[in-house]
This record gives sequence, C-alpha cells and structure tokens, in this order.
Amino acid sequence: MTDDTPTYAGPERVFSGVQPSGDLHLGNYLGALKKFADLQDDHDCVFCVVDLHAITVPQDPKLLAQKTREIAAAFYAAGVDPDKAVVYAQSAVPAHMELAWYFNCVARMGWVERMTQFKDKAGKDSERASVGLFTYPVLQAADILAYKATHVPVGEDQKQHLELSRDIAERFNREFDVPGFFPLPEPLIKGPGARIMSLKDGTKKMSKSDPAETSRINLIDDADMIAKKIKKAKTDVLGDMPSDVDGLEGRPEVENLVGIYSALSGDSVDQVLAEFGGKGFGAFKPALAELACEKLGPVTAKMRELLADPAEIDARLARGAEAAQEISAPIISEVRDIIGFWHKS
Ligand code: TYM
Repeated sequence: MTDDTPTYAGPERVFSGVQPSGDLHLGNYLGALKKFADLQDDHDCVFCVVDLHAITVPQDPKLLAQKTREIAAAFYAAGVDPDKAVVYAQSAVPAHMELAWYFNCVARMGWVERMTQFKDKAGKDSERASVGLFTYPVLQAADILAYKATHVPVGEDQKQHLELSRDIAERFNREFDVPGFFPLPEPLIKGPGARIMSLKDGTKKMSKSDPAETSRINLIDDADMIAKKIKKAKTDVLGDMPSDVDGLEGRPEVENLVGIYSALSGDSVDQVLAEFGGKGFGAFKPALAELACEKLGPVTAKMRELLADPAEIDARLARGAEAAQEISAPIISEVRDIIGFWHKS
C-alpha cells in the first residue's frame, strides 16, 4: 500500500464479543466487560455473545441458549445498558457467517496457521480439532468488520487475532480495489486488567479451561469463596510487598495481585504499591479480598436477578439482534456487490 492510499474515513465504532462457554471469571470482567461499560457513553458500541465461536468445540444443545443468556446478563450486570449499546447473540445475525466465508477466501493459510490460540486449544491432537476451530479467528474478523468497527476492547490474549483482522481488512481492500472500504480495527488493550493471571501461577493467564477452580475468581463466586481463593493465592518467599514497580520484577504472582487491586480500585499500580509497600501479604490479601467482594458483589447480585427473568433477557437480545441486523445488512450487501455476485442482498 502506498502512503496516498485512502484510509477508512467512516464513523468510529466499538465492537467486542465474549464466548458463552464456561463461567466468566475476573479476567473476562476486567479485560472486557468493565471496559465495555466504560466505553458506551462516548462511543457507538456493539457487544456480541459469540455462540458461533462456542460451537467450534462441542456444546450441549440443551444448555447453549441458557449460557448465551448468562453472558448477556453478565454484560448488563457489568453496566452495559441495552439502550446505549447494541447487545445480541451472534447466531441471530447472518452477516457473521456470510462474511466469515468471504474472509475464508481472503485470509491465507499461512496467516491462520500462525495463530497460537489454535495451537493451545487444539493441543497435541490438532488433526482431530474441528475445521471451525482452525478458522475461528477468521470468523472473529468477520464479527468486527460486519459492523465496520474501528476499535475492539479485548484482553491481551486476543492481540494476535486482532492483527489477523487487520491483515484481512487490508487484503480485502487491496484485492478488490476498494481502498478504505474496511477500517483496520485497533485493539483497545491498555490497563492493568488486560492480562489477569492465574492465582496459582503468575506466568499463566487466568482461564476458564484451567482445571484448578482455585486458579480463578468466577463472577458467580460468593464473598466467602472470593476471600478463600485470594487467601490461598500463590505468593512467594521474597518478603513483604515491594514499594515500587521495580520491586515487582521476578515476582509474577505479586505483580498479578497488585494488578488486580489496581484494576478493581482504579488506582495506578504505583499508588497501590505506595499504600501497601513494606506490608506483608497478611495485610494485603484481606484488603484485596474486601475490594474484590465490594466490586464484584453487586455485579453477581444483578446477574442473578436478571437471570430470574429469562423472558426479559430474550426480549432485550431480540431487540439487539434487530439493531445489529440493521447495521450489518447494508455492509454485507455492499460486500456482495464488491465481490461481484449476481445476487446483491
Ligand atoms: P473469550 O470469550 O475467551 O474472552 C472474553 C474476553 O475476556 C478477555 N480475557 C481476559 N482478559 C484479561 N485477562 C484474562 N486472563 C482474560 N481471559 C480472557 C478476552 O481477551 C476477551 O476480550 N475470541 C474471543 C471472542 C470474540 C471476539 C470477537 C472478541 C469473538 N469475536 C470479536 C472481540 C471481537 C474470545 O474467545 O474471548
């Protein structure tokens, strides 16, 4: 691309998605949900429960719809307002599947083969993984670009997928000679919540798939459970809390707990260390547990309240799907025209 290639000049839009698989944890909350709520006042936001992504690994058909409702409830409970942001289920809007196919024909094998998350998720026996799991990040690009989204709030683990989305957008624009048609979406990853690590191992990310329950704080954990998990969280034998950021070097578990405190409180890591530096974990951990309960308790309570009325969640999701359809349908129609199909919409 030369420097004078026109770039996307359309309006800014935020898009992100969360899978309805397993219980949400603190990493999902701090890396994604909390940011969604923070963005909705000043941005045009579209937030999606990505149930098509979930079926890249086996799902129980009797539970899938309920899990979708649970994620929607978590969005609302975290402060996402369905009157401000579009919230819907991915499978309700055909644009995702359609654009994913077009992008499967734009993305190169080599690009997708480089995705580390596929390697992690497929494990040793990748021959037995579904083809869907392999092209998962292509569907992710379709999610974002079906809305011409310019900004994508995610945790750090999604960085590589976002790079692929940019590559696909750039190649589509070039291959079909439509400079600036798709934006090159920017990840919004900043802040201490972007990479929450396991409570048992500060070098591994907090994850739904970790078999150890005590490695993560789930959004549905009650106060006792949260306190217990934080009390048991791994630290180290290198002494008290450090007073500055340099002192966190080589102490991944402590760095993680300080990062969690910072993300929950809104204080900077420096401020947290200024407060707790020189104190023992016996002082820090109870303070962290109290803060976590104070911040997560209302979210959990709201989630439970919303889940008691599934019809209301379904009604909200149906309205969201209509709004999402309205935004994406004209974009898909243009894409069909660009590719040259006989049938345009
Ligand atoms: P998912 O469902 O695994 O996770 C949802 C969001 O939570 C973030 N996250 C974390 N953030 C900080 N620390 C952690 N330990 C942590 N674990 C998870 C994830 O980065 C994500 O933002 N592929 C995506 C879903 C997706 C999507 C999209 C995202 C599908 N299409 C389009 C953005 C745009 C995923 O599996 O997220």
